[in-house]
Amino acid sequence: MKKITVAVDGPAGSGKSSVSRQVAARLGITYIDSGAIYRAITWFFLEKYGDIDSETPFDKGIKGLDIRQEYYSDRTTKTFVNGLDVSKLIRSEEVVKSIQWVSSDKAVRDFVTTLLREWAGEKSIIMDGRDIGSVVFPNADLKIYLDASVETRAKRRYDEYVGTGKNVDLKAIKKQIIQRDSQDTAREFGALKRCEDAVFVDTSDMTQDQVVNKLTELIENQDSA
Ligand code: CDP
Ligand code: CDP
Repeated sequence: MKKITVAVDGPAGSGKSSVSRQVAARLGITYIDSGAIYRAITWFFLEKYGDIDSETPFDKGIKGLDIRQEYYSDRTTKTFVNGLDVSKLIRSEEVVKSIQWVSSDKAVRDFVTTLLREWAGEKSIIMDGRDIGSVVFPNADLKIYLDASVETRAKRRYDEYVGTGKNVDLKAIKKQIIQRDSQDTAREFGALKRCEDAVFVDTSDMTQDQVVNKLTELIENQDSA
């Protein structure tokens, strides 16, 4: 297979990360979770300052921050901040509540974009996020935009939490998803948007396996083009 760069964007719960992980494993390429980097930086600043907002000096704090991510053959990823494995810590509600301040900061976005491009290097990769096709890899070989109704996305998240034994409220999850969608689409830099050259896939009525098959097919067709 020739070197390929696949960009997968879409809103929360559209299936980006679970599908991309599976596609990467099937094709033997690397998966990069860009959302985990924004989460890791949010976690770092919450640890440093206790609380963060638009006044937090992210531009100073971000310099020299050592962030790494490993993708393993069992489809899992681990994210490290200054050598510490934060993979579980970054999945907290506290991180999600504060992430908008980090992901709307220009200095942070520039830092992350540089890092993601370096990581991709000469490898074949599939990377998911919000601005991968628009900002990080505007010349990606293939751009995918995954979407699903807000009800479906909220139910997926709900089932995921319930599966891990968490007691959660479906209505509250739906509200949080709507709020995050609007924050992610409204910000000045790196906003979530559907690129004109992205293949749009509405996954509302698709199983995860169907989406994996669809993406694999698109990549294989692209590879032989
Ligand atoms: O998994 P989920 O869809 O909840 O989110 P995620 O992919 O882990 O991303 C968490 C947050 O990071 C998003 O809501 C965005 O605010 C931000 N993010 C971003 O700004 N740009 C990216 N390329 C990826 C994530
Ligand atoms: O990364 P993103 O926030 O876009 O979504 P995800 O974390 O990959 O998917 C959220 C949940 O929906 C996971 O538990 C997936 O297994 C599930 N899912 C699904 O039920 N059907 C799909 N077609 C895609 C994902």
